[in-house]
Amino acid sequence: MQNLQISVENIPDSELKPKYKSEDNIGFGQIKTDRMFTASYKEGSWQDLTISKYAPIILDPTAVCFHYGQTIFEGQKAFRTQDGHINLFRPEENAARFNLSAKRMMMPEIDPEIYLSGLKKLLILEKDWAPKSEGSTIYIRPAMIGTEPSIGLRASNEYLFFIILFPSKSYFPEILKIYVSEQYIRAAPGGMGSAKTGGNYGGSLFVGQKAKDKGYDAVLWLDAIHRRYVEEVGAMNIFFVFNEEIYTTPLESDTIVHGITRDSAIKIFRDFGYTVREEALPIDKIIRGLKEGTLTESFGTGTAASIVPVGSLYYQEADHIINNFQIGTLTKKLTERLLDIQYGNIEDPYGWIVRVV
Ligand code: COI
Repeated sequence: MQNLQISVENIPDSELKPKYKSEDNIGFGQIKTDRMFTASYKEGSWQDLTISKYAPIILDPTAVCFHYGQTIFEGQKAFRTQDGHINLFRPEENAARFNLSAKRMMMPEIDPEIYLSGLKKLLILEKDWAPKSEGSTIYIRPAMIGTEPSIGLRASNEYLFFIILFPSKSYFPEILKIYVSEQYIRAAPGGMGSAKTGGNYGGSLFVGQKAKDKGYDAVLWLDAIHRRYVEEVGAMNIFFVFNEEIYTTPLESDTIVHGITRDSAIKIFRDFGYTVREEALPIDKIIRGLKEGTLTESFGTGTAASIVPVGSLYYQEADHIINNFQIGTLTKKLTERLLDIQYGNIEDPYGWIVRVV
C-alpha cells in the first residue's frame, strides 16, 4: 500500500500571483495557478507526494523523455457550480485511461488513489482560481515523464508525475472549419494512436499548421490503410448525424483516443432515444450525405473542446458546408444536457460528477 501522505508547501500570501482581472480574456491554458502536485517514481514505487509552488522542472539533458518520447498526459476539467462548489467530471475514468497510456508507453501505472487525492487536494487549495461564468473551467493537465538520465534506448527507471491547472475558456472557436488530411496520417493499427502520448500530438503538428495556414481550425484524420474511414480530430472525437441517426468511429481499432466526452455523448443521446452507431464511416459517404442533404450535422467531443459543431469539411480541394455553418439541433441538445450535468444545474443521473469542495 502506498503512503498517501501529501506534503503541502506553505506559500506566503505575498508570493501568490494576482488573479486574472476579467474572465473574458483568460484564453485556454495560458494562466497557470499558484501550485502543482508532483510525485516521483523511484526504485519501483511512487513517493514524495507534494503540493508545491508552480515552478520549472530541472532535468538532466539525457532524461529519457527528451529522446525516446516517454511522455503521457490527460485532460480534465473542474467546473464551478452556481452555488460555489467545484465539480469534477468522471475523474476515475481519466485516471484509468492515464494508466492505459502508461502501459502502452512502458511507463509505471500510478495508483488511482494517488492521482485522485493529489488532484482533489490541489483543487481545494486552488479553488479561488475557478472561473464563475458557464463555459469557463479549470482545465487540468496531469502528466508523466521518464526522467532517468540514460541515453540507451530503454524504458526509464524513474518518472515524474505532475498535475497543473489553468483557468480557461473554450479551446476551439464556436464552430469549426475542418481540413481532411488525405496524404498524412495520425495513427496506424498496432501503433499507439489510442494512448495520450506526446508523439501522437507532435506528429500532427505539421499537418495542423498546413491546415491553419489555409484558414482551417483543425485536421480530421483518415485511417492509415485505406485513407477512407474517418478517425478523429486529434484534440477531439467526431460525430456525424444522418437523418437523426448518429454515427461515430468505433473504438475497436487502437487508432483513436477513447474519449470520455465521446462516451458521455453516446449515453446521453441513447437516453434521449436516438440511435447511435459506432461504425466505420467512409469520407465519401459523408460528402455524398452533404450533397444529398441526408447528413444534417457534425460535431466534435473532447475534454478541452467540450461539444463543438463542425461547420465545414475541406476535402479533395473543396469546402463542403454542413448545416449552413450553424449549430445543429442535436448538437445543441447534447451541449445543453452535458453542461447542465457538469455545472450541477440539474441532477446527475449517471453518477459522473464528483464534488471536490
Ligand atoms: C483534451 O481535450 O483535454 C486534450 O487532451 C486535447 C488537447 C490537445 C488539448
